[in-house]
Amino acid sequence: MTNLILLGPPGSGKGTQGERLEVQLSLPRLSTGDMLREAVKNGTDLGQKVAPIMKAGELVPDEIVVGIIDERTQEPDCSGGFILDGFPRTMPQAEALERMLKARGTGVSQVLNIAVPDEVLIDRCVGRRLCSNKDCGAIYHVKTNPPAKEGVCDKCASELVHRPDDRAEAVQERLQNYHRQTEPLEDFYQARGVLVNVDGVGAPDEVFERARQALAGGAGGSGGA
Ligand code: AP5
Repeated sequence: MTNLILLGPPGSGKGTQGERLEVQLSLPRLSTGDMLREAVKNGTDLGQKVAPIMKAGELVPDEIVVGIIDERTQEPDCSGGFILDGFPRTMPQAEALERMLKARGTGVSQVLNIAVPDEVLIDRCVGRRLCSNKDCGAIYHVKTNPPAKEGVCDKCASELVHRPDDRAEAVQERLQNYHRQTEPLEDFYQARGVLVNVDGVGAPDEVFERARQALAGGAGGSGGA
C-alpha cells in the first residue's frame, strides 16, 4: 500500500505533479482544496461555511478537513493507497492522519516536499487558470502553460477560471500561513524518515522527472503495512 503526501507551499506544483503521479502510480489523488472548492461551488452547508475562509487565504478548521480525509480514504478506490495533495497542513492534522492510518494498520509511505522560492510562487498563483469542469480540473498558467485558446480548456473545452484566493493579497496570506503552520511538518516527517525533498523550479516535466527519481531512491516506501 502506498500512501504518498505532497507537501509544498501554494503554487509549488502539488496539483501539477500530482496529476502526473496519479497516472504513474495508478493511485487516486485526494486534494482537500479541490474538495472544498467543489463544496463552495455547489453551495452546500460546508461550502457556505468555508467560502469566506478560503477567499481570505486562511486555513479551514482542522476538524473539518480531518473528517473529509477520514471518510474519503475509506472509499474503495483508496484500498491500494492514495496521494494526498494539500493535507495535512498543520501539526494537529498530521497527528490525526498518523492515528487514523495506524488504526487501519498502515502509515505514510513517503512525503514529497516540493521547494520553490516565495517570489516564484506569487507569480505562479496569480497567473494560474483552472478548468471549471470538476471531472477535468486541468491546470494552466497564462505565461508558462497557456491553453491554445484563451479562457478555454484544451482537454474538455470548458471555461477556465481564476481562483478567488489567487489574488496577490490572498496569496501573501497563504504563504505566511504556510511558513507558520505547514513548514514545521517537514521536521515531523524528516524525524519519521519519510521526507523526500525535490527542487520545484524548472519546467513541470523536469520537476516530475526529478520527483520520480527522488521517490524511487528516497526515504520510506513501506507504507507502514
Ligand atoms: P489548495 O487548493 O490545497 O491550495 P494550495 O496548497 O495553496 O496549493 P495550490 O493549489 O495553490 O498550488 P499547487 O501547489 O497545487 O500548485 P499548482 O500545481 O496548481 O488549498 C486552497 C485553500 O483550501 C487553502 O488556502 C485553505 O483555505 C483550504 N484548505 C485546503 N486544504 C486544507 C487543509 N488541509 N487544512 C485547512 N485548509 C485547507 O501550480 C500553480 C501554478 O503554477 C499553475 O498555474 C501551474 O501551471 C504553474 N506551475 C506548476 N508547476 C510549474 C513549474 N514547474 N514551472 C512553471 N509553472 C508551474
